[in-house]
Amino acid sequence: MDNNRGTWKSSFGFILAAAGSAVGVGNLWRFPYMMGSNGGFPFLVVYLIIVVLLGMPVMLGEFAIGRSTQQSPVAAYSKIQKGSGFVGILAILAPFLIMTYYGIVGGWALRYFFSFLTTGEGTDFIGLITGGLGLGVWQPVLWNLVFMVIVWAVCIFGVHGIEKANKFMMPALLVLLIVVIIRSVTLPGAGGGFRFMFANPSAFTFGAIPAALGQAFFSLSLAMGAMITYGSYLKKNEDLPKNTLIVSGLDTGIALLAGFAIFPAVFAMGGEPGAGAGLAFITLPGVFAAMPLGALVGAAFFLLLAFAALTSAISLVEACSAFTIDTWKWNRKISVTLLCVLFCVLAIPNSLSMAGGNPFSGENFLGTGMNLFDAVDFFANNILLPLGGLLMCVVVGWFWKPESAVAEIEGTPGYSFKLKKAWSLLIKFVTPILILIVLVFQFIG
Ligand code: PFF
Repeated sequence: MDNNRGTWKSSFGFILAAAGSAVGVGNLWRFPYMMGSNGGFPFLVVYLIIVVLLGMPVMLGEFAIGRSTQQSPVAAYSKIQKGSGFVGILAILAPFLIMTYYGIVGGWALRYFFSFLTTGEGTDFIGLITGGLGLGVWQPVLWNLVFMVIVWAVCIFGVHGIEKANKFMMPALLVLLIVVIIRSVTLPGAGGGFRFMFANPSAFTFGAIPAALGQAFFSLSLAMGAMITYGSYLKKNEDLPKNTLIVSGLDTGIALLAGFAIFPAVFAMGGEPGAGAGLAFITLPGVFAAMPLGALVGAAFFLLLAFAALTSAISLVEACSAFTIDTWKWNRKISVTLLCVLFCVLAIPNSLSMAGGNPFSGENFLGTGMNLFDAVDFFANNILLPLGGLLMCVVVGWFWKPESAVAEIEGTPGYSFKLKKAWSLLIKFVTPILILIVLVFQFIG
């Protein structure tokens, strides 16, 4: 074992960090609405099947690659199979691209937390992103900077800093979420939110399946180098299948809980359900401002959103910086600093693309029909992630061979992996074929 890289101090720390990576804005603002608008219960069943058949096998594979090689993705893939380093490059490109906009969302969350604390309400979202509040278009850029300084301050301390930050932020996130849920479900009229989330089976269509797959990959932080990198700091006595089960369970559980925090309140206050930035930064602040104890609940919600974004961003920066450390032998402090500065600079065009009157404005970036921010998001999530997941299955299933991965998984003293036959079958055939089908659908769509 290369002792210089450091390892997680405890399984609990690792589980919280991996769950911290997985639980992010995707759980809070995307999953609940996706579920509600796609039929509710049947969608949940499909999502759970995808998590079990595709998400968990890929996550387990990534932990095994990481722990076996003790390297970040590019070096790790090259080590398990000569010539497959390019899969690792894809797995680094995705977090790199995502970090050019993820911090902007985190910055918005911090801005709203601050706003609820000081004024008891949110702020004008369109004004914020288009430069109508103070400081013009630079206000969101500056909040992104605040967000990135926190990420930087954690990542320069490497795996131990990451473990400590997650041990604080993840339990805090859960407590804040419970506070918001209690307030939300006790409002008169909250039942509408549950009906929206669970009970409209006729809205289910097969078109929801590719969407569920994309969401599962994004939500579980797969094919983004993050889980390989976190796996590379694991000790040999960790039970990888058990950890996979806990991390995926926490991620899915928190996505559902987010729905219980959000939709009962939205329905009780007569708001419109929705997803994404509009839900989090326009609908919800209005809902909170109109309800008793709303200032507190609003502050709690945006702090938990900021924690979710921070713990995810930390894993993305770590995936990129571990690459420069392992492959280019960079010093950690220099690497993390340079990357964070670079992400702050690259976030500027993304942030400015939402405001008019600058070179990055426009709703048709490179003919995509989207603005720059959405185009980067689409390319990373809908193309790079499934492609990376597919290639990962091919490399592990057909070149490294499931037996080698199983040997790594069973390297845990006294542990036998009972599902090894099923897992091998999944990673070789079922998972890659399902991902391929989804990718094809996406191209047709
Ligand atoms: N899983 C996070 C979410 O659901 O928001 C996003 C994310 C974090 C993706 C970390 C990828 C990653 F490596």
